[in-house]
Amino acid sequence: MDQPKFTVVVPATTANLGPGYDCFGLALDLTMEVRVYESDRWHVEYREKEYASLTSGESNLIVKTILGTAKFAGRSISPHVLVVSSNIPLGKGLGSSASAIAAGVEIANEILQLDLSMQQKLELGTTFEGHADNVNAAIHGGFVLSYYKNGELDYVALDAPKVGALILVPDVQLATSESRSVIPEVINHAEATAGSAAGHLFVAAIANEQWSLAGKMLERDTFHEPFRKKMFPHFDEVRALVKSSGAYGMTISGAGPSLFVLMPEDRVAEVAQAVRKHYPVYEPIEAHPSNKGTYVQ
Ligand code: HSE
Repeated sequence: MDQPKFTVVVPATTANLGPGYDCFGLALDLTMEVRVYESDRWHVEYREKEYASLTSGESNLIVKTILGTAKFAGRSISPHVLVVSSNIPLGKGLGSSASAIAAGVEIANEILQLDLSMQQKLELGTTFEGHADNVNAAIHGGFVLSYYKNGELDYVALDAPKVGALILVPDVQLATSESRSVIPEVINHAEATAGSAAGHLFVAAIANEQWSLAGKMLERDTFHEPFRKKMFPHFDEVRALVKSSGAYGMTISGAGPSLFVLMPEDRVAEVAQAVRKHYPVYEPIEAHPSNKGTYVQ
């Protein structure tokens, strides 16, 4: 194929980080690259086999987001071919749909020269995704905290923490909608108070580089982990194992099914090896927190 008009690069993300349900998102250094070519029809070609099941026409999430962004701007947009290469595991709790949405917003912005502000991109991405955490981190990069209710979006972006991280990826996919369906509509006030305190301390500990405390608070969620963890094989045993191998803490990555482990950089290899040996159902992937959000190259 000829040279693309341009390429958009989007990071993977992990969300929630324990008690930050629908609020905390962290960009990682796994990426999806979308090369954009002029064409007379919309078509999406995925280079990785894992993505082969996704639709390739106007129902594709990237294309739908491009069209939705153009509509928001009151503009029409000519069709393009998108060629996607990605090392973000699909449907595994690493924000692959948020990355697709982030790519779509940026592609429309670039084709139509919309000059969208960061706030506008995040609002569009959050509206398309329905919750803010993954998509805002994917667009902005770094550690992003979002408040999103009734269309109101506020956010704070902190630098990506300089700490080791490992994603434990099982060989199954889990739809976010399915994982959200196990969370009750109402939780007890005392439990919510404790979960909220854990979230506040987690952020403060990250900002202060108090990694052990951050790891402890990562495991004090009351909003989703208690209801979801039964869906993930050997959850408590894997948590005990990674901690005995030197990790600070472990939680669910986003809605799952992957697990997110926070640890000192120099323990990553040891923790990965322990998981491979004892729980081969999980493939450990090293993923560094990253300040890079979505960009055009
Ligand atoms: N906050 C979301 C959830 C992240 O846990 O359902 C996955 O999109």
